[in-house]
Amino acid sequence: MTFPGKRIDLDGGDRVCLFIGAGMSAESGVPTYRGAGGIWGQYNYREVACQRAFDRQPGVVLDFHEQRRAGLLACAPHAGHAHIAALQARYPGQVSVVTQNIDGMLQRAGVAVAAELHGSIWRMRCAAHGLSDDRAGANLVTRHCALCGRWLRPDVTWFEDQVDGAVFDAAMRLIAASQWLVAVGTTASVYPAAGFLPFAREMGVRLVEINPEASDMSDLFEQVIRQPASVALPALLPLSR
Ligand code: APR
Repeated sequence: MTFPGKRIDLDGGDRVCLFIGAGMSAESGVPTYRGAGGIWGQYNYREVACQRAFDRQPGVVLDFHEQRRAGLLACAPHAGHAHIAALQARYPGQVSVVTQNIDGMLQRAGVAVAAELHGSIWRMRCAAHGLSDDRAGANLVTRHCALCGRWLRPDVTWFEDQVDGAVFDAAMRLIAASQWLVAVGTTASVYPAAGFLPFAREMGVRLVEINPEASDMSDLFEQVIRQPASVALPALLPLSR
């Protein structure tokens, strides 16, 4: 595939914030949430991924998350993930990553993730005692808090949850301090995360979209690259001249 766009040259010292969505993991075999084969086309989040479902049927909710963990362990990071890790090594301090994804795929590729906007499926937490140690296996080490016996829930932001304000503040600062924001594989349809795109625009950050399809905010971008992440990232952000 030829690269249709204008490259971002980091040799000049520019800082880029990569704003990552589920599409970044698609080429690893991880289903996205929307579109063909999307998770919310197969499951009703009201049954498996919200606090009310967890309060009503915690075992069903944890089963769903264990199935997703097992599926993720059968997937591997792709060349696009590896490229981001290589960019961070080549341009220290210039490439930040803010992700909506909970799948840990970026971290498995050695990428330093500055903000997990929606948490991580690889952590569990107790309502009273906070995060509990949980090894990154498919099966949960335990489903109950060792201190109080409460059901543990995945440390992810479900629909109807409050987001982690400190994480969002950190992401906002990173975006405001960047010359570029590259949105990779997101429909830009879920707030408050999607709000980072118009925010970046208002802050004078230059926007580029990598997505084979149009998103809810494609018209905000100065450049849209209708290619998959693994192809577009190395072309848009080459390792060096
Ligand atoms: N490369 C880049 N983008 C891709 C690829 C690919 N190979 N394959 C698919 N995409 C794009 C799709 O075109 C789509 O626009 O990835 C996007 C995935 O969109 P969603 O499934 O809506 O994922 P996302 O935008 O991350 O969802 C946001 O919604 O359900 C909540 O909390 C969940 O974090 C998630 C949030």
